[in-house]
Amino acid sequence: MSDFKKPKIHYYQNWPDLAELGSGCLIIADQRFEDHLWIQDDPFCYFVKSGEELKDLRGFAEHIERILALVDQIPQRPLKIVGMGGGSVGDFAGFVASVLKRGVGLIHVPSTWLSAVDSAHGGKTALNVGGIKNQIGTFYPAQEIFLIRPLLQGQPQERLHDVLGEVLKICLIHGGDLWKKISKLPELEEKHLWKFLPDLIEAKYQIVKKDPQEKTGTRHILNLGHTIGHVIEAEAKLTHGRAIFLGLQFALAWSRHLKIMTEKTAQEIGKTQMGHYLLDPAELKKELRSLENIRELLSQDKKRVESGLRFVFLKAPGHCVVKTVTIDEIVAEVKRQAAK
Ligand SMILES: NC(=O)c1ccc[n+]([C@@H]2O[C@H](COP(=O)([O-])OP(=O)(O)OC[C@H]3O[C@@H](n4cnc5c(N)ncnc54)[C@H](O)[C@@H]3O)[C@@H](O)[C@H]2O)c1
Repeated sequence: MSDFKKPKIHYYQNWPDLAELGSGCLIIADQRFEDHLWIQDDPFCYFVKSGEELKDLRGFAEHIERILALVDQIPQRPLKIVGMGGGSVGDFAGFVASVLKRGVGLIHVPSTWLSAVDSAHGGKTALNVGGIKNQIGTFYPAQEIFLIRPLLQGQPQERLHDVLGEVLKICLIHGGDLWKKISKLPELEEKHLWKFLPDLIEAKYQIVKKDPQEKTGTRHILNLGHTIGHVIEAEAKLTHGRAIFLGLQFALAWSRHLKIMTEKTAQEIGKTQMGHYLLDPAELKKELRSLENIRELLSQDKKRVESGLRFVFLKAPGHCVVKTVTIDEIVAEVKRQAAK
């Protein structure tokens, strides 16, 4: 068993006092919160434009110089970086915390559903290199995570649509009651997400704590839906969350085709409302037909091993199967699903 220390997770129905963050903090926040009442009087805020460009290695030296100039004015020690924003801000702030002065404290304040459910948990930080996502990074879990209901509920409706893929992914991996309850929902609403947040997060930690640094392979199942999801994200320029939803559809259809998933299981999944969406191939088919650089993108995938790629299949909710497949096999399956 690893010595993984789960962060303290705080759930706030209302805005907490800023002092709850403690002392010695530099807040790295999405610039959309520049005039936000919660932080507007804090002198130690560094605002960034969210998105993949923020994670680009080429801009990092400039950011870190400005961040160092700010933290050197903070009188209190130990230092803490507070990342307030979606997944891009969290990945960036986490990376900064892991290298700044050889590592300082880290608190995440996720502001998108995707970051609240997924990216703030599990300790992965990342920067992009040469336009390719997450090529460098560290494992650096936060000590604390603040989940603030009014911050999350301020998001536009499409962000709910965005998180659906990651929510269904963790429910399918976990299976049991969590899948049963979520799969029955006619659609995912804010009130459901807030209610199920602790269970969704706990389901991720149950896997992460067994393999915090992805050394034994257990954690690999969290990549369900991500192989083709990342290709679609890069090619179709869809949001991460939407691309993962399509990647999940691809993984389920392939599992079914290879009979890793039985027809009976597929039909049971299809009877639920969420399962019905997952098995409907219309949008996926359209995206698969327009993929052009699939071989190149797959060869850059971090899940690559000498003989191919470790692909996560689903036998049934709660039961993933990891198999090494060749890039040729993936390309052939993309063609099969695009033509169906
Ligand atoms: N580290 C991990 O384990 C992990 C896991 C999954 C995804 N990721 C990364 O997360 C990123 C995607 O996450 P994301 O979609 O949250 O990214 P994001 O930070 O780019 O946010 C998406 C958009 O939402 C806006 N936004 C943020 N909070 C808002 C709020 N409260 N109200 C209204 N708008 C708000 C942002 O300004 C931005 O325009 C990708 O870079 C992906 O690689 C990391």
